[in-house]
Amino acid sequence: MSDSFVVQIHNLVKKFPVGGDFFTALKNINLELNHAEFTGLIGPSGSGKTTLLNIIGGLDSPSGGNVNVLGSDLGSTSHAERAELRRTKMGFIFQSYNLLPVYSVFENVELPLILNKIETNERKRLVEQAVGSVGLLDKIDSRPAQLSGGECQRTAIARAIVHKPALILADEPTANLDSENSHQIMKIMGRLNNEMDTSFVFATHDEKIMGYLRRIVHLDDGQIAKDELIENPQFGEQS
Ligand SMILES: Nc1ncnc2c1ncn2[C@@H]1O[C@H](COP(=O)(O)OP(=O)(O)O)[C@@H](O)[C@H]1O
Ligand SMILES: [Mg+2]
Repeated sequence: MSDSFVVQIHNLVKKFPVGGDFFTALKNINLELNHAEFTGLIGPSGSGKTTLLNIIGGLDSPSGGNVNVLGSDLGSTSHAERAELRRTKMGFIFQSYNLLPVYSVFENVELPLILNKIETNERKRLVEQAVGSVGLLDKIDSRPAQLSGGECQRTAIARAIVHKPALILADEPTANLDSENSHQIMKIMGRLNNEMDTSFVFATHDEKIMGYLRRIVHLDDGQIAKDELIENPQFGEQS
C-alpha cells in the first residue's frame, strides 16, 4: 500500500461476538483519506462511526481486510508498534474530554510530550504554544473542575495537537457542548487543520459540525452510503 495516503482501508469487515454469534458492525469498507483532510464520518447512532474511528486509531482490530494508517499496515503491526504509532503520530479527542482531574491544564497538555520523552524546556515551549493556540493561556494553571465544558474540550484539543501529530481522531467532540461552544471548537480545529497540515477525522451525528467539514463520509448500517467533498465549508466565513 502507498503511504501517500494518511489512511487507506480495503475491504474492512468488523464483527463483534454477540451471544455465541457475530454482529457485523462494518461491512466491506473501502476508504482513502488524503493528507490534511478535514473529514466527518456521519451517520445515525449505531451506524459504525466509533468502530471505524477506533480501528483507524489502532484501538480495535479488523476482522477482515486491510487497514493502513500513516504508512503502517495495522494488521501486521504488534500491539507495541500500534501504541507507538498512536503516541507519536496521532491525537485523540473524545466526547467526555478525558482530562485527568488532579492535573492542571498545563499538566494535562504536557502528558503526550512526557510519553514521547521530550525534555523539560521544550515541553514548556510546546505546551504554551498549544494552549495559546486554543486561547486558554489565562487558564493554564486551572484544573478541569474549574473550567467550562468548552474550555475542557479546548484543553483536550491542545493535548491532542501538542506533539504535532499527522492525524487527529475526534469522536463526537461537540456532543456535550452547547451551540456556541460547538461552533467555537470547530473553528479552532478548522484553523489548526489549515495551520498544522494535520488531518482531522470526526465521528459525529451533530448537525452543527456538518457545515465545517470539507469531506463527509456517510455511514449507514456499517456501510459507506455516500462520500462527498464539500465545496464551500462554513469555516473561513466571518460569523
Ligand atoms: N464491543 C461491541 N460488542 C458488540 N457490539 C458492538 C460493540 N461495539 C459496537 N457494537 C455494535 O456495533 C454497531 C456500531 O456501533 P458504533 O460504532 O458504536 O456506532 P456509532 O458510533 O455510529 O453510534 C452498533 O450496533 C453497536 O451496538
Ligand atoms: Mg459512536
